[in-house]
Amino acid sequence: RWLPPPTVPSCCVLGLLAVTFLQQEKPSRVHILILSSWRSGSSFTGQLFSQHPNVFYLMEPAWHVWTTMHQNTAHSLHMAVRDLVRSVFHCDMSVFDAYMSRGRKKSDLFQWETSRALCSPPACDAFQHSDIITKSHCKTVCSKYPFSTVEQACRLYSHVVLKEVRFFDLKVLYPLLSDPSLNFRIIHLVRDPRAVFLSREKAAPELVRDSDIVVGPKNNQGEMGPYNVMQEICKSHIQIYTEGSQALPSSLKGRYMLVRYEDIVKDPLEKAAELYKFAELGFLQKLQRWVYNITHGKGLGAEAFDTSSRNAVSVSQAWRKSLPFHKIQKLQQVCKDAMELLGYRLLASQEEQKNMTLDLLLSQHPPTRQKPELRTEKSPTALAS
Ligand SMILES: *[C@@H]1O[C@H](CO)[C@@H](O)[C@H](O)[C@H]1NC(C)=O
Ligand SMILES: *[C@@H]1O[C@H](CO)[C@@H](O)[C@H](O)[C@H]1NC(C)=O
Repeated sequence: RWLPPPTVPSCCVLGLLAVTFLQQEKPSRVHILILSSWRSGSSFTGQLFSQHPNVFYLMEPAWHVWTTMHQNTAHSLHMAVRDLVRSVFHCDMSVFDAYMSRGRKKSDLFQWETSRALCSPPACDAFQHSDIITKSHCKTVCSKYPFSTVEQACRLYSHVVLKEVRFFDLKVLYPLLSDPSLNFRIIHLVRDPRAVFLSREKAAPELVRDSDIVVGPKNNQGEMGPYNVMQEICKSHIQIYTEGSQALPSSLKGRYMLVRYEDIVKDPLEKAAELYKFAELGFLQKLQRWVYNITHGKGLGAEAFDTSSRNAVSVSQAWRKSLPFHKIQKLQQVCKDAMELLGYRLLASQEEQKNMTLDLLLSQHPPTRQKPELRTEKSPTALAS
């Protein structure tokens, strides 16, 4: 242990100690971005992190950016989205001044009730940090707390995890990757574009405004509208995956991880373990039981993953039964490159589409995941400060 020389006045010793403490502690907070797209299983993946007692989680904070400035393009909003994400990683919630009213409450934050951290102290006194809390329970008892509790809560945790669907280019995030005050990692979550397409068709009305921003209102119209949006989304997956797996400097390579939703569905416990490991979080027994429960149809699942594991696999293939082949063909035309890169087999005929023994999930080339550099500090603990 380092001891101060006896001649240094105690005021300064404390100051020095504080500086040393801050220098050691600051980078040890881990910052994770779940980078995904609409209807791609990111709510479930977000919940894996949100329910962990060491994690402060927010779902799509940049919703506020897009909603406030909806007459812009995704490209022109990139920097505002990036800067909001950076501020939230630093637990600086004053960034929302630009997008929300002064008199805002915690419950004005988009999807606040999906954050377990905003459903437990100091953001709500009805639950404990270690509780598994569903959003409906949270919403009924935790809504009337001031907005300032968001920032207070954030500062308590060793991990800040954000889920976003509003990035289309990894380059926008380079300043965060190289920022020494952040320990920043990206989980890039993708899903078979054909399943995404069907899910988007079902949710079409609630996606209109976002899609207008993605491709422009003109290109979001007519029969080609949905394909134009998917083309943009597929293009962004290629860009992000190529940058993340190949273009990053070697010192940053371990900070990117690609995950396919179908792989999570196939083996939720195994994939959850990998995700937690990447994030340097322990897979607590209680969470293992919870993941098992929600993926095997036992309780609490209705909101995230409400089918049994075996059912979930067939649910994730449901598009093969209900999406007409001519739509599949059209979609494959605009998403072919992304599907080949991410390991989704293209269908050549309606016979192949209906032949359920034909596995459409291929292994990927090249291998997508490097191990994160192991850091030497002790593993982060909950409520460190
Ligand atoms: C898992 O399900 C069992 C049986 O329904 C229940 O008793 C238990 O509390 C659940 N555990 C978790 C962590 O969800
Ligand atoms: C279905 O696909 C499997 C696996 O590729 C193949 O062996 C089988 O012959 C196909 N069945 C039909 C009826 O085409």
